[in-house]
Amino acid sequence: MNNPFYISGIIPEPYFCDREKETQNIVDTLMNQGDVLLTSARRMGKTQLIRHIFEQASIKEKYYTFYIDIYATSDLGEMVFLMGKEIFKTLVPKGRRALKYFWENVRSISAGFSIDPISGKPRFDLKLGEIYTPELTLEEICQYLESAGKPCIFAIDEFQQITRYRQTNTEALLRSCVQKMSNCRFIFSGSDRHILEQMFSSYSKPFYNSAKAVYLDRIEKEAYLRFVIGNFSENGKSISEDAVSYCYDLFEGYTYYMQKTFHELFPQISAGAAATKESVDGTIRGIIDEGSHAFSELTAQLSIAQKGLLCAIAQAGKARSVTSGSFVKANALTSPSSVQKSLATLLDLQLISYQLTPGGKEYFVADKFMERWLKETY
Ligand SMILES: Nc1ncnc2c1ncn2[C@@H]1O[C@H](COP(=O)(O)OP(=O)(O)O)[C@@H](O)[C@H]1O
Ligand SMILES: [Mg+2]
Repeated sequence: MNNPFYISGIIPEPYFCDREKETQNIVDTLMNQGDVLLTSARRMGKTQLIRHIFEQASIKEKYYTFYIDIYATSDLGEMVFLMGKEIFKTLVPKGRRALKYFWENVRSISAGFSIDPISGKPRFDLKLGEIYTPELTLEEICQYLESAGKPCIFAIDEFQQITRYRQTNTEALLRSCVQKMSNCRFIFSGSDRHILEQMFSSYSKPFYNSAKAVYLDRIEKEAYLRFVIGNFSENGKSISEDAVSYCYDLFEGYTYYMQKTFHELFPQISAGAAATKESVDGTIRGIIDEGSHAFSELTAQLSIAQKGLLCAIAQAGKARSVTSGSFVKANALTSPSSVQKSLATLLDLQLISYQLTPGGKEYFVADKFMERWLKETY
């Protein structure tokens, strides 16, 4: 029996929950020649939504679609490398002609293409270090996209990363390429809402006002309840509304943690049986136990000060004014300045995250399973 709760890979249509309005909105914007800025908290479903959009018949028939995630990249060369590789990968199944046209146009890296003498299959074995002229290659790629056989949609995920690139002019450079294109639409997406909004809503920034902002909130509770209950019942199992609602509230509707829980719970319930709130709790217990080794490895790298702050934030759930004297004192931390330093490290390591509220920045542990583990362990 297939598990209807997907936590990785491409989610087949019937197992993709909701997001109808967002899908329609983004498809309409793209077809209307607009670019999109898609933001949300981590693990809410941006990447899956982009994939889902690319699977829509109206998009699939009309466009070539490309997707890269630049989270791990540190300069323009790497980004350009991923773009080249993605275009190659997408074009391979479209046939030799499409591919040939691509590599004839991207001259600066055409040495990376070859035909495998034995299998006859096209190969792209460019090395990262062989992107000698990233700016030129970027320009060539954009020119290619502009003249490809079909209109294109290019999604760049974790886009905030470009603000960390060595080349400080990347934003301006990319913007000027994007601006010249009429055959290619872009989806920029990422979890760092603060940085992305600054990039797209400050008058002085190259990307100012250049994309339609879509914020992806949690899936509505009603819709998620129906989705989970339906998936159980279609497979001859059942789950109480109470149990699903409990899980939703516990994880505040964050998609990944709920999907992970039901992904694990589903096979544990035999046909004809019913899952309850207690079964949900048992499953979460199991997930935390299984993760505990990884969680302790992560915390083992931290200094006492960093660990202290992480635990204080876990205990608070959502922590405000963490550098105030009262927070420092209440949690037996050393000093506001040491908290300030630890905060930067924890944010950098993505162990914590924050949201802006009218009362200031509100910090929380990024992984909700880890948050529970910390609360229980320390
Ligand atoms: N609409 C959806 N229906 C079912 N599962 C989803 C949906 N959106 C996201 N997920 C699941 O939630 C998790 C996080 O999604 P992802 O797209 O990677 O989040 P993000 O890119 O925002 O960090 C994944 O495990 C994914 O399978
Ligand atoms: Mg993602």
